[in-house]
Amino acid sequence: MKVLVLHGPSLDTLGSREVEVYGDQTLDQINDAIEAEAESLGLEVEIHQTAREGEIIERILGAKDRVAAGILNPAAYSHTSRAIADAVRAVDYPVIEVHLSNIHAREPWRRRSVTAEAAAGVVAGFGVDSYLAALRLVKALVS
Ligand code: DQA
Repeated sequence: MKVLVLHGPSLDTLGSREVEVYGDQTLDQINDAIEAEAESLGLEVEIHQTAREGEIIERILGAKDRVAAGILNPAAYSHTSRAIADAVRAVDYPVIEVHLSNIHAREPWRRRSVTAEAAAGVVAGFGVDSYLAALRLVKALVS
């Protein structure tokens, strides 16, 4: 069973970006942890990172015949992108939104996620464990 994992803008700078908020793990390290957890759950993951809103949309739509579920960290697009939200609504597979930080405990503008309104659910505030928990939730949702 394949799971699409999408990381949005600036997540490629993890490890040096606002380490007090996001921790010191790089995106490569996070992806290694995602792959290890997926393997232990018997899931296959396809992982991409992009800063481009259109690419996120194209990847969500383009995966519709290939994946059983998606895990999406839209990063700052969470707070603005109705286009990504509509792409999530346009596919039949469930998408779990993930945030490293607890967006509800941060600046007021971060507390609303418009993309989360289209998601099956949200895991936020647990660093890399947000992604690993989402993988376990995916497994429970689709099996
Ligand atoms: C984030 C939270 C967003 O508000 C922020 O713009 C990010 C990362 C998180 O994973 O905590 O880039 O999505």
